[in-house]
Amino acid sequence: MTPKVTKAIFPVAGLGTRFLPATKSIPKEIMTLVDRPLIQYAIDEARAAGIEEFIFVTSRGKSALEDYFDRAPELEAALEAKGKHALLDELHKTDMPSGAIAYVRQAEPLGLGHAVWCARRMVGPDEPVAVLLPDDVIAAERPCLRQMIDAYEGTGGSMVAAMEVTREMTSAYGILDIEEDMSRLVSVRGMVEKPRPEDAPSNLAVIGRYILSPHVMRSLDSQKPGAGGEIQLTDAIAAEIAAGRPVHGVRFEGQRFDCGSKAGFLQATVAFGLARDELRDEFQAFLADVTSSRLAAQ
Ligand code: UTP
Repeated sequence: MTPKVTKAIFPVAGLGTRFLPATKSIPKEIMTLVDRPLIQYAIDEARAAGIEEFIFVTSRGKSALEDYFDRAPELEAALEAKGKHALLDELHKTDMPSGAIAYVRQAEPLGLGHAVWCARRMVGPDEPVAVLLPDDVIAAERPCLRQMIDAYEGTGGSMVAAMEVTREMTSAYGILDIEEDMSRLVSVRGMVEKPRPEDAPSNLAVIGRYILSPHVMRSLDSQKPGAGGEIQLTDAIAAEIAAGRPVHGVRFEGQRFDCGSKAGFLQATVAFGLARDELRDEFQAFLADVTSSRLAAQ
């Protein structure tokens, strides 16, 4: 039987340079889509997929993110006293049980693979683990990680979330070399990090959701820096394939926003804003106005 996935790693130790100067003092993962920080979307997705233990790989300057998960007794008392029960309910939806969150530090931003490796002592030697990058926000009826875990229960091994991209965009992603295409699921015979369009083995890109077999963590132990001088998670997953262990990609249903980039963050803000009943009419009217008059903030 495939072991259950109950732990997830959230690597949040990156520098977030694409959002400077904001990220000088605000962790990227705490930046807000409508009224919730990016990290909350990732946590909610993980909870909906049955994750019970949440491991954050953090770094210097991320204390706002750590504090976000603390209860706020004074605020709760003030809301209670004012009878603001709806707000209080919203606040309680973010409560995490004591002991469910653990933090581990990455001393230097040596890449995603290295960040995941930093959590190695928190994951048992035979345990699979999910990895969620909070800057990939995925709007989906069935949460993306849920879709992956459902597929994983049939396949075991390691699993990545995959999405079709245009040929020109392959150089921005890890790209799958597909062995067998079973429509929603593909088996993978190789992965290439950021290939030029002419070298890309497919246009199926890996996005920031993974289920890693225990072997991946072990192989991160011996990974050498790859593309960009960083320790790449893609290389450790590729090593799985080389060792003959199964790796699958799931073409998930849903819309993914790259909130690690400015354009993606703005697109997500519009999409999530329009999805809110209380904002839709006013926001839609404003957007129509802006686009027709080409009005822009000066
Ligand atoms: P990115 O590639 O988006 O890097 O990392 P970044 O530092 O966050 O942002 P830019 O490119 O400088 O703007 C993808 C995810 O991996 C984490 C990041 O926090 C983000 O969630 N990460 C990356 C680490 O935790 N450690 C690293 O060394 C690198």
